[in-house]
Amino acid sequence: MMGLAYRITYGRWLVLTLTALAFTVLLAVCTGCPPLPEDAPLRDLAQRKKLLIGTSVDETVFNADPQYREILAREFMILTPENAMKFERIQPEPSRYDFSQGDALLAFADANGMTVHGHTLLWHRQLPGWLTQGDFSPEQLKTILRTHIHTVVGHYNARIALWDVVSEAIDDEGQLRDTFWLRGIGPDYIALAFQWAHEADPQARLLYNDYANEGLNKKSDAIYRLMRDLQRRKVPVHGVGLQMHLSSEYIPDTEELARNMQRLDELGLEVHITEMDVRLREPTGPEALAKQAKIYRNMLDTCLAADNCRSFAMWGFTDRYSWIPDFFPGWGAALPFDEQFLPKPAYRALVERLRRCF
Ligand code: G3I
Repeated sequence: MMGLAYRITYGRWLVLTLTALAFTVLLAVCTGCPPLPEDAPLRDLAQRKKLLIGTSVDETVFNADPQYREILAREFMILTPENAMKFERIQPEPSRYDFSQGDALLAFADANGMTVHGHTLLWHRQLPGWLTQGDFSPEQLKTILRTHIHTVVGHYNARIALWDVVSEAIDDEGQLRDTFWLRGIGPDYIALAFQWAHEADPQARLLYNDYANEGLNKKSDAIYRLMRDLQRRKVPVHGVGLQMHLSSEYIPDTEELARNMQRLDELGLEVHITEMDVRLREPTGPEALAKQAKIYRNMLDTCLAADNCRSFAMWGFTDRYSWIPDFFPGWGAALPFDEQFLPKPAYRALVERLRRCF
């Protein structure tokens, strides 16, 4: 009798357990959250959430360091050339284009199932001397810019699906930044740049990209108005890049970030986190690294919660190579891998957030 009761109880327990297991697997599959191995890299975890995770790539380091290339291919889906596609590199002399580095990065991306984010067609920095020191009329400058954009976007036609077309055209007060392009062509240079990029590749997604525009402030308000105005004029613009260069002292409010993403969504625009890093004062300690991890996690969390946040890219991935110490003396350690390529708390925070199904 006892044995029969035991068998029935055990049988019920087995049926219930198997049903629960089947239900969990079914739910995971239906919600697009199938289980992944313990050591799954960021790109697999992010892809499961339909988010592309990326990094910028310093081409000098890329050429020199095999360990860098290995982590790059293992962890990331988007590759953004850090300098290789900027004006001074790609057209160092009038009408002489150099696509060698950009092409090498694209070949690597293709070979590793990654996608390239083109950066950047129009910026006021890293312009060649022949351009900034030349004496060009507005019409001549328009011709130079149009030819540059047509040539570069045309060269990568259908192979680069996402471009930063215009970078950093608005200042912190929300005014058009006083740049070489504004002085040389006038305010219409922005609309023209988008138009020309679209002509060269009608399928490409075209972004406006800026920093300190994550939360709600004069700059992000001005960018919102600029996007709305461009759309009203039927200028082909598809999204806004939020660079997200943060520090332990500059952290956007996540509610403001969410509202900013939401209002851009209401315009039908995508948002992309394009250049995230979180610089810390050196030397760092466990507390600062934990705070940094929380910032990475919160920004990722906000992106995942927004319908229109399509990608989450960092400006490099290892503290061994980063623009921060050169530009902000006394600061560093801004990225998720340390100088020995070991994962930091920030890396683990990203993994942990991406592992959560909801
Ligand atoms: O290529 C020269 C090399 O020939 C020379 O020997 C060396 C001497 O310093 O300089 C090299 O050029 C440097 C270049 O990076 C490549 O390493 C420039 O001096 C340096 O100014 C340049 O810095 C880049 C910076 O943009 C320029 O403003 C950083 O690498 C790059 O990370 C940074 O990226 C920008 C984004 O494009 C736009 N958003 C902000 C972001 C951070 O500033």
